[in-house]
Amino acid sequence: MADTVLVTGGAGFIGSEFVRQAVENGLYPIVVDRLTYSGDLRRLSPVIGNFKFYEANTANYSEILEIFNQEKPSIVVHFAAESHVDRSIFEPHAFIDSNIKGTLNLLEASKELAVRLFINISTDEVYGELGTQGYFSEDSPLKPNSPYAVSKAAQDMLGRSYYKTFGLPVATVRPSNNYGPWQYPEKLIPLAIFKAIHLEEIPIYGNGENIREWLFVSDCIEGIFKVLESGKPGEVYNIGSGIELKNIDVVKKICRILDDLIPQKKPYESLITFVKDRPGHDFRYGLDSSKIQYELHFQAHTSFEEGLYKTVTWYLKNREWLEEKASKLRDFWTKNYKK
Ligand code: NAD
Ligand code: TYD
Repeated sequence: MADTVLVTGGAGFIGSEFVRQAVENGLYPIVVDRLTYSGDLRRLSPVIGNFKFYEANTANYSEILEIFNQEKPSIVVHFAAESHVDRSIFEPHAFIDSNIKGTLNLLEASKELAVRLFINISTDEVYGELGTQGYFSEDSPLKPNSPYAVSKAAQDMLGRSYYKTFGLPVATVRPSNNYGPWQYPEKLIPLAIFKAIHLEEIPIYGNGENIREWLFVSDCIEGIFKVLESGKPGEVYNIGSGIELKNIDVVKKICRILDDLIPQKKPYESLITFVKDRPGHDFRYGLDSSKIQYELHFQAHTSFEEGLYKTVTWYLKNREWLEEKASKLRDFWTKNYKK
């Protein structure tokens, strides 16, 4: 019998890419999403009719158990989460509910229904920060710094406990920073695109020297499919691209693409504005992704130039969506950005 794949957070940025690729691969996914401020079913418009949707909160066990009893999933891919570090600094409670309680409920329901594989989507942020040297491997200690990262580390430890204690086949995936079409413009890349095309100041925290490893979202999902196909229960898999960049350089690259596509009198770089640093701002993330490369034969293949160009042009074509989402962020930005 074919697998029934239940995807939580499938109306989000990364989860929707999973659903779109799953449909392309011939699956009929069951999507569970609460449709919070960051969830949007329009991300699934290209595959409408090819998935089933439940609007539900993972933090509500009876809602989740009812869906599991109805659908009897054999595979669960768990993306649903509060995902923005800055929000976790202002409003941490939602992170505990969705990321910790939500994960516990899904693990418990998966145990009850004897799910064959539970893929737990984590993040590189659980390892904490690096200096200029070195990389995090799957065995590195967890030293999360933001309330968001702590909630994700707790999620991972719950997954580990359900594997060790109950034998639930949980595999954990830790991707680096994703970017691409459909990302909510609270995150650096779509935010910088929005600000630039509006000729508004582009806010960079601190001195812009912080480093992230940038992974194109479709590459991330290809890696997650490798884990789905041949990942081992109980294992953790880092997924990175090897593309490490300072924030200031990411924003300058966006500016240069816009200089070519919609030139203004002044270069877009003149909009860059340094603002007060994020509290507890991790300096650098960098993953050793050799395990997924050698054991599951996965390697990210999209260059940053290609991925960023695709991303910028996607937002220019989908400007209405970007405007609609960004208009809801004005109050948050006023509260967050101090010179
Ligand atoms: P997102 O904010 O775009 O999407 C999250 C989705 O989860 C939304 O559709 C939202 O409605 C849903 N959701 C939130 N709380 C829920 C709840 N209680 N019940 C049901 N649905 C709920 O986030 P994203 O960027 O797509 O991230 C997806 C996953 O990947 C998260 O687990 C995140 O921690 C992880 N991750 C993200 C990145 C990144 O760069 N964005 C990097 C590494 C890992
Ligand atoms: P973000 O996209 O929030 O992802 P994360 O915090 O999960 O890495 O931020 C990416 C980097 O960009 C991070 O170092 C913080 C920085 N940043 C800014 O400089 N300005 C901004 O307005 C935002 C949202 C982020």
